[in-house]
Amino acid sequence: MPGLAIVGAQWGDEGKGKITDLLAERAEMIVRFQGGNNAGHTIVRGNEEFKLHLIPSGILHAGKHCVIGNGVVIDPAVLIGELDGLRRRNVAIGGLKVSANAHLIMPYHVLLDHAGEARLGKLEIGTTKRGIGPCYADKASRLGIRVQDLLDEKILRTKIMAAMEPKRQLLRPVAKDPKLDLHAMTEEYLTYGHRIESHIADTAHLCWDALDAGKQVLFEGAQGVLLDLDHGTYPFVTSSNPVAGAACVGAGVGPRDIDEVWGITKAYSTRVGAGPFPTELFDEVAEHLGTVGAEVGTTTGRARRCGWLDLVALRYAVRLNGMTGIAITKLDVLSGLDRLRVAVSYRGKEGARFAEFPYHQSVLHHATPEYHELEGWSEPIGEVRNLEDLPAAARSYLDFIADFVRVPLTLIGVGPARDEVIWLSGGAA
Ligand code: GDP
Ligand code: IMO
Ligand code: MG
Repeated sequence: MPGLAIVGAQWGDEGKGKITDLLAERAEMIVRFQGGNNAGHTIVRGNEEFKLHLIPSGILHAGKHCVIGNGVVIDPAVLIGELDGLRRRNVAIGGLKVSANAHLIMPYHVLLDHAGEARLGKLEIGTTKRGIGPCYADKASRLGIRVQDLLDEKILRTKIMAAMEPKRQLLRPVAKDPKLDLHAMTEEYLTYGHRIESHIADTAHLCWDALDAGKQVLFEGAQGVLLDLDHGTYPFVTSSNPVAGAACVGAGVGPRDIDEVWGITKAYSTRVGAGPFPTELFDEVAEHLGTVGAEVGTTTGRARRCGWLDLVALRYAVRLNGMTGIAITKLDVLSGLDRLRVAVSYRGKEGARFAEFPYHQSVLHHATPEYHELEGWSEPIGEVRNLEDLPAAARSYLDFIADFVRVPLTLIGVGPARDEVIWLSGGAA
């Protein structure tokens, strides 16, 4: 299976970083294909924790090729900070390649993200305020600055001038901010260009070479399906497409290059930021999940909203991504809960039953989940490495999920560290 996409099946933070790091061992290349430094992917290696925002989660494996694809939006200061941080920790970064066609997050994108949220007030999306939305908007408007522009002073200056001018009106309260000085910004970005020049490449070509040679390429998604710009809970979404199909566009490969798609889901649900979340809880179970699961955002430090696993949403995620396997993380967090619930349908405001994820925003906003209840288990499971050694109730919980979504489970996470997993037969390939 040369091409394997790893995507978030919920609202992000499912544990994509950990799974990617794990699978990277057998891969040749690991490619990020969308999103930017709104992502925060955690890898735990022994006593060490790594939080990656832009660099693919394969970077800890020496000798692997890591690619930031054309579909990613890059804040070069963040990228350089991340490279320096890894170098300080003796991680080899020479294998990182950055697409010359990826778009750059500029200072005005960050200011616009802040201003946009402030203007929305109570209706705010709860973005990570990293400039992601405004950067993708400029890309679509054909006013974006790309990585390759960093290598030509004249082009860079001209493009920044053209892109920045329309922003001045929108940014009137901060229009005199020194960060918006054309000369200073051009100089700053030229310096970034010098710093990352050796990493800039025609990354689509690198992917083709690896795939054509039959080497395994991992496409590492950021965010999750329900934050997808087209298929998520719009407008409470991110500005890219975290679905597996976007790996083709964001890396420059064809649909037939993706042989397998693994969806990553927690054994429960979380969400950061605003927007509908039908199975959200506000009781002692939410407290348990938040505390035991350490549910604090990797990027912004915000507390994550917590709730039961939503199988209506998961089945939607399976279909949208064409998932061939599901990895369930954080099963260990459920230890100690007497009874467990999973949403199997919704009731609308007028009492109508929805077996499928509703397309209509008003239905979703007022949806009440209907639950199937299962027995919990009390014992810790962090040491378990074989399915048979899990408590019977935990196995029933997993069976119920797999039967409901009709996709094989490939891997179960029972702790944050890379060896804290149970491999299942579907994932042994
Ligand atoms: P990502 O954005 O999808 O890569 O996920 P994050 O890194 O933002 O959040 C997942 C968190 O859960 C991280 O702190 C991981 O170390 C942790 N984690 C991943 N898998 C497991 C697991 O199976 N059990 C527990 N307890 N923690 C896990
Ligand atoms: P990873 O890759 C969880 C959420 C934000 C907000 C919405 C829009 O770590 O799973 P944006 O800054 O993208 O315009 O914010 O999307 N969001 C994430 N939530 N995990 C992420 O990434 C996220 N990236 C963005 O909280 O609700
Ligand atoms: Mg995260």
